[in-house]
Amino acid sequence: MKVTAVAPANLAFIKYWGKADEALRLPLNSSISVNLSNLNTTTTVEFAKKLTKDEVIINGKEDEKTTQRAIKHLNKIRRLAGFDDKIKVISQNNFPKAAGLASSSSAFASLTLAASKAAGLKLSKKELSILARQGSGSACRSIPGGFVEWIKGEKSDSSYARSLFPADHWSISILALVVEKEQKKTSSSQGHKLAKTSPFLAARVERIEEKIKQIKKFVKEKNFTQFGQLVEGEALELHAICLTSNPPIIYWQPATLEIIITVQKMRRSGLPVYFTIDAGSSVFLIGEKKNEKTIKERVTKVRGVKEIIVNHPSGGARLVKKHLF
Ligand code: DP6
Repeated sequence: MKVTAVAPANLAFIKYWGKADEALRLPLNSSISVNLSNLNTTTTVEFAKKLTKDEVIINGKEDEKTTQRAIKHLNKIRRLAGFDDKIKVISQNNFPKAAGLASSSSAFASLTLAASKAAGLKLSKKELSILARQGSGSACRSIPGGFVEWIKGEKSDSSYARSLFPADHWSISILALVVEKEQKKTSSSQGHKLAKTSPFLAARVERIEEKIKQIKKFVKEKNFTQFGQLVEGEALELHAICLTSNPPIIYWQPATLEIIITVQKMRRSGLPVYFTIDAGSSVFLIGEKKNEKTIKERVTKVRGVKEIIVNHPSGGARLVKKHLF
């Protein structure tokens, strides 16, 4: 039976950076995110006895490293289902891979939903989130809808994401500004490992629960200014950890800084807009929906901005009828 799932990428307001358990992908801290309406992955899978090996095609390519990571995840699903049929997987992003646009979150969330369903497993949202987490940590946050909290948990079955508010809770716009499309040099998985070498990580972990509490309050109350200030500070903190890791990780490109400076200028001119940045050079701008057009116009002119993808909060992973093969 062919099954197809679509999952959104998600953007963290409070980031997942550093793991307590590498193999299980248990995070050092809880994190908070929103699902993105215009950045997603569609994955079609089919288990078949006639296949002699797994066939995994991601964005039109059979890349060894990515395939192995997907197969490792599929083996977990096969173990749970108690069979070992080979599988065909075709997965397609609607955005450039590894441009700092969290493609592993939507990829592993859609793969988990499609493959577990095709394997006949009947999993709850919580169980799906736990499973997706083991493929890529941030993927657990793309299973539930809207504004999401990943509860760090102490063990595998208590580390999962749940919805805090539905997508229509707050009319915000999230503009993804792609500044380069080349594959980034340090993967987020490597970055998580290196975080432990930063002398500032301990200070971050000590204060993070308070930040989680605050961001939940600001999102609940739709307090845009306080929310934005916290989100921006959090992104800079993540990059402070990266810059002070050993060896240091510098994800930014000149255009990244150009955008940051432009955002500050926009605010000085009275336009409320804030930025956040993941493990890459792309920048995400967050504004109120009513200001979306103005923000877009102002950043289109910034040198080095290659593409702008406008998003709104969206639902989580879902099954669809249209297959990719
Ligand atoms: C900077 O989920 O990609 O985007 O678990 O190793 O696959 P792995 O890491 P990943 O890390 C995402 C890091 C981040 C912050 C975030 O999304 O919270």
